Amino acid sequence: MLNLRETEKAFLATHVFEGCVAVDFTMGNGNDTLWLSHRAGQKGRVYAFDIQPEAVARTAERMKLEAPFENYRLICASHHTASDYVSEPIDVGIFNLGFLPGGDKGITTLRQTTLPAVRWALSSLASKGALLIAVYPGHEEGRLEGEMLQEELSALPPKQYSVSCLRIVNAPDCPFFYLIEKNK
Ligand SMILES: C[S@@+](CC[C@H](N)C(=O)[O-])C[C@H]1O[C@@H](n2cnc3c(N)ncnc32)[C@H](O)[C@@H]1O
Repeated sequence: MLNLRETEKAFLATHVFEGCVAVDFTMGNGNDTLWLSHRAGQKGRVYAFDIQPEAVARTAERMKLEAPFENYRLICASHHTASDYVSEPIDVGIFNLGFLPGGDKGITTLRQTTLPAVRWALSSLASKGALLIAVYPGHEEGRLEGEMLQEELSALPPKQYSVSCLRIVNAPDCPFFYLIEKNK
C-alpha cells in the first residue's frame, strides 16, 4: 500500500531548496514544519499556521529540540489570514487538512476557510512554486473539502498551473493529495 506521507515528500522534495520560502498552512504536531525547516536551510523562511494553541505549543517544543535552524515562525491564526503574515512569494506550501492527530476531532479544517486560504496560496506561488494539499475523505467535512477542491482545482488554467491528484481509486475513503505546480 502506498505510503502517503513518503510519496507527498518525494513530490515536494523537487520544489524545496536551500533559501526557499515555505508555508505550512496546517501545523498540527509540526512534522511538516520540521521537515520544511530542515530543507529550507539557514537562509530559508518557514511560516506555519494553526488555530489551536495546543498545536502551536507542541510544535514549538519540538522545534526547540529538533529544528536545525531558527528559520521558522509559528503563527496561531487561521490560514485564511496568511496574507497578514506572509508578504513574499511562496516556493512551497503544504495543506495537511483535517484534525490534529491525538487532539479534538471536532476541530477540523473547514471549507469556508480552506477555500480562501488555498486561493490565496495559489495566487502567491512563486514561478515554479508548488502546493501540496492532503485531503482526508474518511470524515464528512473532509469528503466535502475534497469535492470542493476537485471542482476548484480542475478549473485552474493549465497554462499557469499543473494539477495532479494521487488517489487510491479502489479505497475511496483513504487520504489522497493534490500537487499543484505553478508553471514558469
Ligand atoms: C492533519 S493536522 C496537520 C498535521 C501536521 N501538518 C503535522 O505535520 O503534524 C490538521 C491541522 O489543521 C489545523 N487547522 C484547522 N483549521 C485550521 C485553520 N483554519 N487554519 C490553520 N490550521 C487549521 C488543526 O488544528 C490541525 O492541527
